[in-house]
Amino acid sequence: MFEDLEVLQVEASVVRPLRTTVLRPHYREGRLAEFGGDEAAGTHHFAIGRVCDGDLQGKPAGVVSYMRQPPPETIDAAAAWRLRGMAVEAEHRSMGLGSRLLDASLTQLAVLEPECDVIWCQARMTAVDFYAQNGFERSGEPFEIPEIGRHVTMWRPALKAVAS
Ligand SMILES: CC(C)(COP(=O)(O)OP(=O)(O)OC[C@H]1O[C@@H](n2cnc3c(N)ncnc32)[C@H](O)[C@@H]1OP(=O)(O)O)[C@@H](O)C(=O)NCCC(=O)NCCS
Repeated sequence: MFEDLEVLQVEASVVRPLRTTVLRPHYREGRLAEFGGDEAAGTHHFAIGRVCDGDLQGKPAGVVSYMRQPPPETIDAAAAWRLRGMAVEAEHRSMGLGSRLLDASLTQLAVLEPECDVIWCQARMTAVDFYAQNGFERSGEPFEIPEIGRHVTMWRPALKAVAS
């Protein structure tokens, strides 16, 4: 199912609508979830969806972003990227799309940012199993983010591009 969907690097403007719907549903209508660093050099956004001639057709089914940011000191990293804004449309969850998006985006990130050695995130407690199934480990104690809920920091080694 959904074998025809592909993972594509996209602009921040493409990921923000789904990011807002899924992760910031309490925002008033018209306000989009913008993260500091969304437009920074070294920030990369990805979407999974139908692609034609190298362009995304219609709305993405899932989105994720990576931005260069040091992790908490419990995580040892020389060059770390923070995963943010991971979201799959509600009606398309538990079908493997999130895992495909993660795997393909980490593969592309390895080419874009070869020095990256660690990926970390602040995982919602409801998403801890998803990240654990995709190679992330918990680090430190859970904490509360106001209006959003309990989170725990997770991390995994970055993928490395294979030299051709
Ligand atoms: C987390 C999320 C991106 C995963 O995407 P997905 O396409 O459903 O992921 P996959 O189908 O590849 O993997 C699903 C597996 O991850 C785990 N998982 C995913 N979401 C889960 C949830 N809400 N509660 C518990 N386990 C969950 C389960 O083990 C699940 O396996 P199962 O379907 O056999 O139960 C998606 O559920 C989502 O958008 N959730 C809401 C937003 C969110 O929490 N984002 C993460 C912010 S840190």
